[in-house]
Parts: sequence; C-alpha cells; structure tokens
Amino acid sequence: MSAYREHLSNVMARADEALARSGHDHLLIASGIEKYRYLDDMPYPFKPNAPFKHWLPLTRHPHCWIAYTPGNKPVLAYYQPDDYWHVPPTAPSGEWVEHFDVRVIADPADAGQHLPASGRRAILGEADGALPGFEPNNPKVLLDYLHYHRAYKTPYELGLMRRAQRKAVRGHLAAREAFRAGASEAGINAAYLAAAGHTDNDVPYNNIVALNQNGATLHYQYKSDQVPAEHRALLIDAGAEVDGYASDITRTWGNGDGAFADLIAAVENEQLALAGKVRAGLDYRELHLECHLRLGTALQALGIVAMDPGSMLETGVTSIFFPHGLGHPIGLQVHDVAGFSDVDGNLIPRPNGHPYLRMTRTLEPGMVVTIEPGLYFIPSLLAKLKASPQAKSVDWRKVEHLTAFGGVRIEDEVHCTSGAPENLTRDAFAELNQ
Ligand code: GLY
Ligand code: MN
Ligand code: MN
Repeated sequence: MSAYREHLSNVMARADEALARSGHDHLLIASGIEKYRYLDDMPYPFKPNAPFKHWLPLTRHPHCWIAYTPGNKPVLAYYQPDDYWHVPPTAPSGEWVEHFDVRVIADPADAGQHLPASGRRAILGEADGALPGFEPNNPKVLLDYLHYHRAYKTPYELGLMRRAQRKAVRGHLAAREAFRAGASEAGINAAYLAAAGHTDNDVPYNNIVALNQNGATLHYQYKSDQVPAEHRALLIDAGAEVDGYASDITRTWGNGDGAFADLIAAVENEQLALAGKVRAGLDYRELHLECHLRLGTALQALGIVAMDPGSMLETGVTSIFFPHGLGHPIGLQVHDVAGFSDVDGNLIPRPNGHPYLRMTRTLEPGMVVTIEPGLYFIPSLLAKLKASPQAKSVDWRKVEHLTAFGGVRIEDEVHCTSGAPENLTRDAFAELNQ
C-alpha cells in the first residue's frame, strides 16, 4: 500500500470514530473561500482549511468540498472555473485522484448538488463559506477527536515534513550568506525565498528576519530595506511548506563578537541536549521546565546572572530572558492544534507562570514538536528585572553589551519515535553538508 493510501485510510478511520462519537452520519469539509479586503476587489492570499488538506494535497483550491460517509469512497467537489483573469486549478491529478469520487464544478454554488442534503451532517468550515443548506456546525466532540489525533503523523505526513525541512534549510543557508554579504532584512528575506522556492505569500508564516536588536522582538513582523551600519546579528525564523505541511526553523548568526558567539554556543548546546531528550512517555511540560534550568545554568556560566538556576526559575528571572514556550506541535498548521488538550478537548494545564507554552501533552511516537529555546535582551522585560530584588545579581554591563545583538533562538523540528528521536532539521542541514 502506498504511503498516501495508508494515510488516507488512517484519516478515514479517524473520521469514522469521530462521527460515531459525535453522532453524525456524514462529514463535510469545506476548503474555504477566498477573502477580500474591505470594499475592495483585492483578495488576501488563499489558505485552505487544515481539516480539508489533511485528506489530500490541495492547497490552492478554494470552494472545494469533501463529503465522507463511512463505508463509501469520499466525494470531492472540485472547483475549476472557466476564468481568464486567473490561472484556474488544473484538472485533478496525482495519486489521490483515484481514491476520491471527483465531481468538477464551475460554480461554487454547484457543490451542494454533490453533498448529502439530509441526515445528521457534521459540516466543518467557517460561517462565510456556507452554501444554502450547508451551514458549518463544527461539532466540538468531533473536532476535539480529530484535532487530538492530528498530533500523530502518518509516514506520508512525515515524508512531506522532511521535504519541507530541506526546502527551508536551503533558504536558511542562502540567508546566512546574504547576512554575511551585508544585505538588509528585506534583502536577506529575498535570498531566503529564492533559495527555498517560495514567495512571501506561500510561506507557512510571515518570516521573521531580524537584524541586531530587532531579534529581541519575538515575532518581529517587518523587513527593513535599510542596510544597517553594522551587521552584528541575524535571527531568522523562517519555514517552508510542501503539500500543506510546514517547517518552522530558527537560526541565529553573529559577526565574530566573542560574548555573542558564546551566547549562541550556549543556546545551541542546550537546544541539542533538549532535542535529544524527546522520548515517548516524556511530559513536554517537564522538558520546558528543564529548558528553563538549562538556560539558567547558561546565564550563570556566561556571568550574566549570578544566581543558581533553580532560584532563577522560581523568581521568574529565566522568564525575563526566555519569555516564550519551549515549542509546539507542528504539521498542517505551524502551531498545530491540540497542543494542550486531551482527546475530549479538556485543557491539559500549563505550569503556573508559563502562559505561553503551546504544548502540554505527553510525547508519543508519531508526534513532531519544535524545540526552540532562546535567550533575549528585551528592554521592557529587562526594566522589570532592574526594578526587582534580583537586579543585584545581574551583570548589567554584559546585558547592555548583548542588548545590541537582540537575542538568540535556535529551533528544530523533532519527531518522537519509539526509540531515539529523529531531528528532522539537523538531518536536513546534514544532508546539505552544513
Ligand atoms: N515561527 C513561530 C514559532 O516559532 O513558533
Ligand atoms: Mn519559529
Ligand atoms: Mn516554532
């Protein structure tokens, strides 16, 4: 059986169980509609609904619907308009086609003719994608079950995710060269995109391309076209996508400054150690807390904070320098669903004082998570530290020096197996001999 066919069988089996749990006979999934700017005829880039692209690799296809009834071949209403303003979708092609009962439609409204008109129907999609008689109801019990299981990747999905790593790594290598050649943030981004084979519209998230102190803004959203006077640091958090599956990789590069090089090396060491600990049965929250202790040890060893790591964690000092979570599940969405809920949709709580952790589940084979520790010099958080009793333990001269570099983050995707973890990102770098 091919990897795709095995994947689809798995998706259908999950749908069978989800429908049984929620008491529905049919599952209908909209790919979504193109959305327009207010009072304008300019559409935003189209992004398909994740539950739709879980079934088949269609990512540029608005106004399509899947209709699945257990025991039957799934129906796909495939929207292919006659449009000379835009390039319409090509005729359906690929391995998936033979596994669907494909009905080509030229008008979005025609989809309804191919969908079950009665029975207990679970209809997934957004309200604005409704067709007359097909209003999305998004049953919670069904979605909770599907979301929970999306964490377990099939071999087919892992294959696509490995390819998404390689695409992004090519971009990262080109970005490093552009940084060393003295490009602007916009220029570095252009080099990244060209090497990754992407445009700004089809990367899985807005690339973070931050020079110098801009690296201290965790989701720095701009790309300046100004070349700065100095290229002290580049923090680039950029991914790629293959058939709807994302990668999300961060690298930080310096310019030879010793203190910043030591900081990068320290984060890299801890990142590799944490990635190596991804194992079935490990509570990801424990790994997050271990990350705080490790980063505290690094802050102490680098002479930035003279406190023991346990006290740094307890008093919130590590959270000043590392104010986000260790990572998150990834797949069809960069921040994949159900990182902190169980199969019934109940919240698996975050540790107290760690509001941004996006993954609280216990690791199991098939999960792919990011491992992305960082140490940052964020002026507003440092001001709080300066006003606290712990201020006396901080070497503010070192902090001031490093503030000009922004911060360090190193991020890989790691696949939890039944044995040693598979580091998808490091494998892709190694494959490209870097
Ligand atoms: N690129 C966003 C993140 O790392 O979660
Ligand atoms: Mn990232
Ligand atoms: Mn991430």
